[in-house]
Amino acid sequence: MKVYEIGDTTNGLAIHKVERPVPKPGHGQVLYKLRATGLNARDLTLIMGRGPQPGPKNRIPLMDNAGEVAEVGPGVTRVKPGDRVVMTHYWQWLDGKWDNAMREQDFAGTMDGFLAEYALVPADPLVKIPDSMSFEDASTLQSAGLTAWNAVVEAGHAKASDTVLTLGTGGVSVFGLQWAKMMGARVIITSSSDAKLERMKALGADMTVNYRTTPNWSQAVLDMTGGRGADIVLNTVGIQEMEQCLTACASGARVMFIGANPVTPDRKASAPTALTRFPNLIMKDLTIKGIVVGSRRMFEDLVKAMTANKIKPVIDRVYNFDQVREALAYMESGEKIGKIVIKVQ
Ligand SMILES: NC(=O)c1ccc[n+]([C@@H]2O[C@H](COP(=O)([O-])OP(=O)(O)OC[C@H]3O[C@@H](n4cnc5c(N)ncnc54)[C@H](OP(=O)(O)O)[C@@H]3O)[C@@H](O)[C@H]2O)c1
Repeated sequence: MKVYEIGDTTNGLAIHKVERPVPKPGHGQVLYKLRATGLNARDLTLIMGRGPQPGPKNRIPLMDNAGEVAEVGPGVTRVKPGDRVVMTHYWQWLDGKWDNAMREQDFAGTMDGFLAEYALVPADPLVKIPDSMSFEDASTLQSAGLTAWNAVVEAGHAKASDTVLTLGTGGVSVFGLQWAKMMGARVIITSSSDAKLERMKALGADMTVNYRTTPNWSQAVLDMTGGRGADIVLNTVGIQEMEQCLTACASGARVMFIGANPVTPDRKASAPTALTRFPNLIMKDLTIKGIVVGSRRMFEDLVKAMTANKIKPVIDRVYNFDQVREALAYMESGEKIGKIVIKVQ
């Protein structure tokens, strides 16, 4: 079978076609006949050697995929030859919560990807697609489509009263627009190009901002929403846009941090990636959430819980009302644990 492999990326783009034997599916495995694949920002990073490490040599790139089950190994009952299917790239994540350990099994990351005529894959994570969906359409879904789905629908809980802001017109962002419109939300989308923004309007974008001609685009988002901001923000770019994403937020907004690789429109400048600087933010599925003290209901719950559980606060020292200076000096000394109290009378 013909496959592409990543070469030595020390000097940039390195990819070549080679022949490999068609593999035989073992227990629980499927021989997957690829019908379509596609590009994501991460693939470029790997194939061009722009990531923190050189591209993985001899690895088959590309995580997007759609195709057919060609042959099943012993014990496979979920799918049968001829089934039309797609596959996630962190294939161990079948349901429930993400676990960072699952990143070790990553098609096109730690394992061969799908720029190949065939691939050997586990049967369990395969997802059947209907006859009405073309392989080309299906092959766009597994990274950009699913990521945007998670951000807008699953984690974002988008609803019709929400305003969703999404950055750029790349794969993830455009799916973000589509899922948000599907949920009935209002969508603001940014781009470096007015022509692209026209396309986004045709897709249903309610408001658009050109981030090149309006570098302070977060203010434009506030202006468009009567000063309120967006309820869900898809940061598909990276940490470099985080400040403006936060500025553009409405009260209680959810910021979905997605951008992990450099995605400058010219794709030449290779800034340090957000993933390099904050590796756990994405790979441990963390959430950034603001806290503004707490409500009366929370306070009532707290008092009930302390009473029921006989919890006492940790008080380091108690000063008299005329010992305020001493209290401050002790505070400043940094020696205290827990609280310093001043008795008033
Ligand atoms: N966390 C995850 O699970 C996950 C999953 C998939 C992808 N990702 C990451 O998400 C990012 C986007 O992926 P993608 O596949 O959608 O990339 P893509 O299709 O290559 O899209 C790149 C787009 O980003 C836009 N862009 C670049 N700089 C921008 C800026 N400063 N402000 C606003 N938009 C800007 C440009 O839009 P215009 O041309 O309209 O200006 C460009 O077309 C990548 O970092 C990728 O690695 C993460």
